Amino acid sequence: VRATFRVGLIGLGHVGAAFAERLTGDPATVAQAAGRRVELGAIAVARPEGRQAPAPLVPVEKLIADKKLDLVVELVGGLEPARTYVEAALRAGREVVTANKQVIARFGPTLAQGGGLRFEAAVASAIPIVETLAEALAADRISAVVAILNGTTNVILQAMIQGRPYQEALREAQSRGLAEADPSADVDGHDAAAKLAILIMLAFRHRVDSESVQRTGIRGLDGATLRLARGQGQVVKLIGAAVLTPQGEIHADVRPRRVPQHDPLAQVDGVMNAIRIRAAFAGDLMLAGPGAGPQAAASAVLADVIRAARGLPPSAGARLAALARERETAITPLGPAQPYPQAG
Ligand SMILES: NC(=O)c1ccc[n+]([C@@H]2O[C@H](COP(=O)([O-])OP(=O)(O)OC[C@H]3O[C@@H](n4cnc5c(N)ncnc54)[C@H](OP(=O)(O)O)[C@@H]3O)[C@@H](O)[C@H]2O)c1
Repeated sequence: VRATFRVGLIGLGHVGAAFAERLTGDPATVAQAAGRRVELGAIAVARPEGRQAPAPLVPVEKLIADKKLDLVVELVGGLEPARTYVEAALRAGREVVTANKQVIARFGPTLAQGGGLRFEAAVASAIPIVETLAEALAADRISAVVAILNGTTNVILQAMIQGRPYQEALREAQSRGLAEADPSADVDGHDAAAKLAILIMLAFRHRVDSESVQRTGIRGLDGATLRLARGQGQVVKLIGAAVLTPQGEIHADVRPRRVPQHDPLAQVDGVMNAIRIRAAFAGDLMLAGPGAGPQAAASAVLADVIRAARGLPPSAGARLAALARERETAITPLGPAQPYPQAG
């Protein structure tokens, strides 16, 4: 029997609490999946005072330095101090699991050079796309990715088509806990662009900067535009798309586009996300599922922890690490015509 695998958790918010509950609520199922006991050894949060937690609360520096921990899970979010925590934990010899798309999109290749880094939850939460690209399709050649990577904009666009003005639709999404308090990440396409940049690096094996993905958000849209599209048999969705040309150029952007009603992507509603991949050998694949929500994200985090406990290699991290010394490839916008016409 292998020794207990000990996990430290930074961040006990929406996702952190759901993940801790999965670990401590049903340890037998987790142990069976991992082939050994998995224990939550310590937790760090921003405001520990008077707090109940499912493991001892410790200062974050102490957690990162704790040699008894095998792995650190980062569920703080944002660029800093999350990036510093991930880097320090790797340097201290821990494996790291994170759901942080901003950190991975900007610093993934450099960080992954420092040790075992896993990030299944950073792209489309519960959809197992990250390891699918790095493992199941490891020897395939991927030439296109077309995706809905942000559920909040789905929800807002749906409310707008039912006649609600943009501001009201946004407030509704915020009150349901879907949109961020600062909604720019969702509605201006930053969130989708970060996830698309991660997918581009994994699928095309070129290093890119998520800031160079051109973004058009959904702010400029109104109900009339959406209804006009519907009258023509189309549904408006915020689409992240990327193509690798035979010459090795990357064309990609994030824009609201008019998707034909019969297209599977047109059916992707609410918090659902979907990712379509064109692979030379596997063919056209589409993965769809919950792209947000604490349970969905925790499911992907737990999957990474279990892979680590079983001693499986961090394949997606290794793929990013291989790009660390590469210069960033420039990204040309796909433009308003393909893969679907731009809306608005
Ligand atoms: N929510 C989702 O549906 C979802 C889906 C996929 C991925 N993600 C990603 O998952 C990550 C976490 O998201 P979340 O929604 O769970 O965030 P959240 O609810 O805001 O929780 C953040 C947690 O981090 C802690 N924290 C903040 N600053 C800290 C610091 N300097 N040191 C230690 N702990 C600190 C907070 O402590 P306090 O509790 O003391 O404030 C809190 O427990 C983000 O990267 C997010 O993008 C979220």
